[in-house]
Amino acid sequence: MKLEGKTIIVTGGTSGIGEACVRYFAGKCGARVVAASIQKEEGAALQAELGEDRVRFVFCDVSDESSVEAMIGESVQAFGKIDGVHCNAGVWGKGLVTDFTERDFERLMGVNVKGAFWTAKHAIPAMEKTGGGVFLITTSVAAQIGFPAHALYCASKAALEALVRCLATDHAGTIRSVGVSPGTIDTPMLAASCEGWDAPVEELYAQVEQKIPVRRLGQPLDIAKTAAFLLSDESEYINGTIVTLDGGTMALPPW
Ligand SMILES: NC(=O)c1ccc[n+]([C@@H]2O[C@H](COP(=O)([O-])OP(=O)(O)OC[C@H]3O[C@@H](n4cnc5c(N)ncnc54)[C@H](O)[C@@H]3O)[C@@H](O)[C@H]2O)c1
Repeated sequence: MKLEGKTIIVTGGTSGIGEACVRYFAGKCGARVVAASIQKEEGAALQAELGEDRVRFVFCDVSDESSVEAMIGESVQAFGKIDGVHCNAGVWGKGLVTDFTERDFERLMGVNVKGAFWTAKHAIPAMEKTGGGVFLITTSVAAQIGFPAHALYCASKAALEALVRCLATDHAGTIRSVGVSPGTIDTPMLAASCEGWDAPVEELYAQVEQKIPVRRLGQPLDIAKTAAFLLSDESEYINGTIVTLDGGTMALPPW
């Protein structure tokens, strides 16, 4: 029960990695969890299934500062304090730099980068008021490599890795700032990224699995287990570190 007595907010907590984190933190680690996202139906169902004394859904569009500020306020009101935030909400986008419009840029950077900024801006003072906490960001291996036709997504994730390091130095002493960097994880986002390819999703997944050293896709629970450790007191000396969970993909030689 690594997170017993703690309140954790998970943005993007109603699908994929975020949903697995909500279930794991509340179900196996003893935390009270706020699942924040734009998915009202999924959020209401998750809250009803896991019980509102354990899991609260709060609607929040992370790209909108006032929505983030309200979500942090509601979380404190619901559970009294915040001990950790898993800043995980994200959107994916494919294309060359020459394909993107300002609207595309605003949408992707708005959720992935501004979302993390607003969440940090409002969650950090709330955590500091009650003795501090942990700020965890879901980045991506896309921050480290130039995925073909993913300039905007890669740039957004690289910005998040810089943010992890800056928060780790600026707020050290009260806030630990850490990251998880997933490789290829079996979620609705991954399935959506396969649309438009000339093979069924299962076939594409099988091809990808052959390229991953451990020969399987990551599962959302793989990320949830590490996230729980990073949010817990067991990792109290880890600050400014981003943990890669990719089955060894980034360890492969680049040829
Ligand atoms: N699946 C992968 O292979 C993979 C790999 C690396 C990184 N990631 C990152 O992991 C995170 C979770 O992705 P996932 O694969 O679980 O995807 P997903 O699409 O299943 O979940 C994304 C979540 O973000 C929420 N969200 C989207 N826009 C939002 C907004 N404006 N405000 C609040 N919430 C919003 C969605 O409602 C959803 O709950 C993302 O940051 C993604 O970039 C995923």
